[in-house]
Parts: sequence; structure tokens; C-alpha cells
Amino acid sequence: MKLTYYGHSCIGIQTGDAQLLFDPFISGNPLAKAIDMEKIPATHVLLSHGHGDHVADAQAILKRTGAMLVSNAEICSWYEAKGIKHATPMNIGGEADLGSFRVRLTVAQHSSTMPDGGSGGDPCGFVIRTGEGNIHHAGDTGLMLDMQLLKRYSLRFACLPIGDNYTMGYADAVEAARYMGVNTVVGMHYNTFPAITIDIEAAKTAFAAANINLLLPAIGETIEP
Ligand code: NI
Ligand code: MN
Repeated sequence: MKLTYYGHSCIGIQTGDAQLLFDPFISGNPLAKAIDMEKIPATHVLLSHGHGDHVADAQAILKRTGAMLVSNAEICSWYEAKGIKHATPMNIGGEADLGSFRVRLTVAQHSSTMPDGGSGGDPCGFVIRTGEGNIHHAGDTGLMLDMQLLKRYSLRFACLPIGDNYTMGYADAVEAARYMGVNTVVGMHYNTFPAITIDIEAAKTAFAAANINLLLPAIGETIEP
């Protein structure tokens, strides 16, 4: 399993013959200028909620790649009206078998309005179950006790927001990792904007003190967590 970080909460996961792409926000992210959007592979594009910093480049990538959109029913309907019909509309607590992996929508404590003000349904996170282990992309969320439910997936790693202000900060992300029983966290949703700029060394110290690996790949870097 390979993970490529495209900045903010945009993460690519390669597992088997599937290329998952979460929350594409590249063209509007000054930190991701070096990323060539035309070259990002995707067989599935997963959208956690409707905010622009998670969906801005979804339409372009879906059209170029013909990838399947995986999101809640409202977001899938919003894209269907724009000509994106290859989709798996879901909702919280549901799981779907997409062949090379299974996907389950989990609760996120956040909001979800589309860029045009339309309904983005309820925000979600994702549990992805693969032959190479189970992983979690939390989307945008605050800390919540529901995260304890993720323990049963024996997560290989979790992608968690750590930037504070709009989501939980790194101290709460440490607690979230404890709730999930996960030993490796990929940090996301930090340093993109002034409001979510964090002290990286303090974040590393907080995770180290809890004996949890914090991975902060550079934008464009591919790792094997
Ligand atoms: Ni958001
Ligand atoms: Mn966000």
C-alpha cells in the first residue's frame, strides 16, 4: 500500500489495482503548486464533505480519469447534475464492496455545504478495508467519542486533521488516535491557511509522548505507511 500526499486533506492511496483519491484540493492550494493535477491517478474519488477545500478539483479529476465518485448521496446528486454519473452514493454507517476494497462511511463532527450553497448532506470520514489492512481518512472533524468504534477495524494507520480552528488540533488528534487504537497517524489539514498553521515540533512532541507515530509526508511525497 502506498500513500501520496497532495497537500491539505488530499491523499492518494494505491492498493492492489485501485487508486483512491481523497478530497482533491490542489489548484487552489498555493503549497501544492508543484503538483501536476493532470498526472494524479484515480480509479475512485472519495469526498468527505462539500467544502471547497475538499472538493475544488473533484470535477476536473473525475472527468479526466472516469473514476468512480464515492460520497454521501447529496454530494453524488450534486455531481450527477454536472454530468458525473459514475458514482456510489452512500450514507453514514453503510459499507460497500467496490471490488478491490470495501468502503464504510463514518461520522464526522463538522458541516457540509457545497461551494454554491447547495446541500452537501452530512460530513463523513471513511474506513477503507483492503487485503493490505484497514485504514481511515477522517475528513474534517472534531474529537468525538464515536472514534472508539473504529477500534474494531485494527487500523493500519489513520489520516487525521491536526490544524485546529476548523477541525481538531494535534492534541485532540493524539486522543483520537488513542480512541481508535491506532499507532500510526498521517497528519493533514494543517499549514494551508494562516488559521490552521501549527507548531510542527510541538505536534511531533505531543505524538511522541503518546508513543504514536506521526507521519507528515512532504507535498508530492509517496510513503508506505
Ligand atoms: Ni470542512
Ligand atoms: Mn476543510
